[in-house]
Amino acid sequence: MTTERRFAHPVLDAPALGDAPVAVRVLGDDLVLWRDAAGTPRAAPDRCPHRGTRLSLGRVCEGQIECPYHGWRFDGAGRCVSVPALPAFVPPDSHGLATHRLSEAHGLLWLHLEAEARLPSFTAEADPKLRKLNVGPYEVAASAPRIVENFLDLAHFGFVHEGWLGDRAHTVLDDYRTEPTAAGFVASGCRAWQPQSNRLSSEGSWVDYRYEVTSPWSAVLTKLPEKQDGYRDEIALFVCPVDEEHSRVWFRMALTDFDSSDEQIRAFQHTIFTQDQPVLESQRPKRLPLSSGEVHCAADRSSAAYRRFLRESGITFGVLP
Ligand code: FES
Ligand SMILES: [Fe+2]
Repeated sequence: MTTERRFAHPVLDAPALGDAPVAVRVLGDDLVLWRDAAGTPRAAPDRCPHRGTRLSLGRVCEGQIECPYHGWRFDGAGRCVSVPALPAFVPPDSHGLATHRLSEAHGLLWLHLEAEARLPSFTAEADPKLRKLNVGPYEVAASAPRIVENFLDLAHFGFVHEGWLGDRAHTVLDDYRTEPTAAGFVASGCRAWQPQSNRLSSEGSWVDYRYEVTSPWSAVLTKLPEKQDGYRDEIALFVCPVDEEHSRVWFRMALTDFDSSDEQIRAFQHTIFTQDQPVLESQRPKRLPLSSGEVHCAADRSSAAYRRFLRESGITFGVLP
């Protein structure tokens, strides 16, 4: 599972990490997050090296995480700095925690299991003409690759999102292209007829779709409705692979809609994703089969490109060979 560790993984909304420790699970491992004395977010295994207790059940005192069992304390670098039963004892390095770096981007905290683990790009983040907000997290009983593949899928709109992103009278897909990029691939030339493509649309419209897969667990969708001149949606999907069959999902929205309230934008995206969620959670096998076990048609071009990309990237978590 070394490939998976070369990418940063989104774990928590940045404002959600306050004075208390928070437990998260990434790639099947339990971690505890807290803020050290300088306010820097820290991550370590959620397991006390003394007797294996969950540190996330403890508390944070002056930036040190305190184990709930015997009160051992660990500083932001993971050093054990206090063993209350033996005040004169200076704990050796072996009593400490192996910590991991966290970074903050797109309103989220990202876990770097390896020093060079990279963040997925989202160029719309820097565009001052777009309003940004996050929707989520959603806890989904599906593997991360199933969720990304669903995000790239155009042929389900008329069924799963009927009356919103699609309609049974417009289920035919035009040809579209996929091309590799340095980080993943792009699917362009896609078009969908959508009764209600975004919160501000007042009538059905053809909508140009462009997808860019920016890492094995993230993709950016750019939507340009033909009937709303100047309107643009860029939606980044960020998925945390919690374990092989569970995921935590965020949407980072960057939009030209400055009229709707945050709640109205979230409600729209929530409606769409909660239409997808039961379908995602029903899929078997839960791990995405990369080579065999499912049948395909020409409309599955983006799905085929995604599975090929995962195979070529050496991904083994949340997939079947
Ligand atoms: S188990 Fe954590 S201090 Fe003993
Ligand atoms: Fe969908």
